[in-house]
Amino acid sequence: MTRATTIFRTLILFFVFHLATIGSISAQTVWLDELDLSTATQGYGVPQKNKSCDGKTLTIAGETFERGFGSHSESLLTILLEGKATLFTAKVGIDDEVKGQRPAAEFIVNGDGKQLWSSGIMHLGDAAKPCSVKLDGVKKLELLVTDGGNGNYYDHVDWVDAKFETTGVTTFKTFNPVSSEIYILTPKPAATPRLTGAKVFGVRPGSPFQFLVTATGDRPMTFSAKGLPKGLKIDEKTGLITGTISSKGTYKVTLVAKNAKGKAERQFRIECGDQIALTPPMGWNSWNCFAQEVSADRVKRAANAMVSSGLINHGWTYINIDDFWENHRDSKDQSLRGKFRDENGYIIPNSRFVDMKALADYVHGLGLKIGLYSSPGPWTCGGCAGSFGYEKQDAESYAQWGFDYLKYDWCSYGNVINGLPENDPYKVSSLSYNGGSQLETAQKPFILMGDLLKKQKRDILFSVCQYGMSDVWKWGGSVGGNCWRTTNDITDTWASVKGIALDHEKSAPYAKPGNWNDPDMLVVGHVGWGNTHPSKLKPDEQYLHISLWSLFAAPLLIGCDMEKLDDFTLNLLTNDEVIDVNQDPLGKQATCQHTIGEMRIYVKELEDGSKAVGFCNFGLEKIQMNYTDFAKLGLNGKFTVRDLWRQKDVAKVNATNGELAIEVPVHGALLYKFSPAK
Ligand code: GLA
Repeated sequence: MTRATTIFRTLILFFVFHLATIGSISAQTVWLDELDLSTATQGYGVPQKNKSCDGKTLTIAGETFERGFGSHSESLLTILLEGKATLFTAKVGIDDEVKGQRPAAEFIVNGDGKQLWSSGIMHLGDAAKPCSVKLDGVKKLELLVTDGGNGNYYDHVDWVDAKFETTGVTTFKTFNPVSSEIYILTPKPAATPRLTGAKVFGVRPGSPFQFLVTATGDRPMTFSAKGLPKGLKIDEKTGLITGTISSKGTYKVTLVAKNAKGKAERQFRIECGDQIALTPPMGWNSWNCFAQEVSADRVKRAANAMVSSGLINHGWTYINIDDFWENHRDSKDQSLRGKFRDENGYIIPNSRFVDMKALADYVHGLGLKIGLYSSPGPWTCGGCAGSFGYEKQDAESYAQWGFDYLKYDWCSYGNVINGLPENDPYKVSSLSYNGGSQLETAQKPFILMGDLLKKQKRDILFSVCQYGMSDVWKWGGSVGGNCWRTTNDITDTWASVKGIALDHEKSAPYAKPGNWNDPDMLVVGHVGWGNTHPSKLKPDEQYLHISLWSLFAAPLLIGCDMEKLDDFTLNLLTNDEVIDVNQDPLGKQATCQHTIGEMRIYVKELEDGSKAVGFCNFGLEKIQMNYTDFAKLGLNGKFTVRDLWRQKDVAKVNATNGELAIEVPVHGALLYKFSPAK
């Protein structure tokens, strides 16, 4: 080879190499799985890189993929492209790991607030659908998966082989538009006494009466009650009113709390008649934190924490044991195995609950009340012994042990209707809903237990749990129910809270004292169904959750580990002005009266003629505006506007021509009270 040829070849190689480099700078491929996927929000589980929602190989209609993003609807991943991507390509579909279920989901690509692509509704078994979206100039990209219109159960969704063509950059930032900032709004209570909790209480004639007068303020504190009906007395040190009332009637009482700093007085009404639960029940339930790990010891510790945390001073009352106090059908855990019933058919609790009466006495001794759980079918939802065939014995046991609350959960009753053998293994499948959509069979087991509970010599609050089948809100009260679940189980995700909140609207006209629609338990604090973690809801989402459940006049059952209460969670659960909205004696459930974009404005009428108004932001943009449409909220005249979370008056407004400046964080809420100005 001549010297000239060598130089020529070197030059050629040099150019080829540089051209390749220049080419790769001007057009790069960035894979979606190279980005930080942890900022994505989703309806269940955590965002998975190159794996399905359950951590398995990504598989759509039998085809497997090495790369991608496994999620669960509602799912949202926000990517800051800053105009530096030209193309997004991927394939989408539902993962095969949910075989046997009926998921449906829609994959959507939004760019700068506009929909750029949609998959249409996809089902299990649909082949992976190719997606190709031109992105020139797009700054903010959202990969969104919605629930396909049938709820988000088992919507395990995959974005596979997903990648961007870019103009030279090698990565993009992702972010979560919902703030993680923790901020405390509830002011510390004053040193002077302030009476809290329910202002009205229902009892049946002859039933043991137990009501704890609660107050905030420095201790020691003494309590008294003027005008108590015959048969009742108050313990001056604890504020506990006990005894029995023999005749029906309305009794007006003045409650008084005193300490070294001052005195508080408040009117209290006792209704002795047929109806109990005149305000929504407030308390704790073991399910959302302990699930199958519940034990008598844990229940006692939760009760102790209710007292030591000070929550008891804000009206929190019930300590409810959910599933797993009974013996289990086939658990490997020996502490759950044993004889279901004695020779007379009376239920035998499992070895973790050796003495139910002693446990009830312990909880009552703290000034609290106690509840438990069963199913009208042969098995509970968790596979423990249910009440089927032994309803009478069970109602008697609950009363004899001294329980105050029963949650009665449909579950395997569907199998009874189908005529399946009693020991047919309970499956969490559509089978368990069978019979729930025919009114007669839907009502039958609740009528039976409701009547039996009423025959007992104590008031047992009856919580109907069948997830809203046959429009339970229309008849739950007539079968003896005091509250009834309106939807499926809640989880600590935004999709769950939002879905339940939107679904709850239809039941609103049926809420009234003694009859409450139940959107399920609270998911703040450390929750986790046997394996606890701090709630995945962001702080603003938690404010919205508590604000809405208060506006809904929903039963308030704390679902967290009571021994892990942090300051933020306590701030959510101890705001007496917020709790007063929930406990308002008029017993109305808020409805959405006005929608602006993704802001829904809920209004709840209160007994004193004022209105509680929740400005709830379900969208992903912060809301800042001057609100003027007061007539839409049914507000006329002049009002004082009070911010209930901050416990501060914030404005005086003339509803005819005035305006109110509002600022609502993403997924957050303002809870205001509009009182006619004096
Ligand atoms: C169902 C209910 C839950 C809980 C469990 C117990 O899922 O909806 O609230 O009681 O059963 O197994």
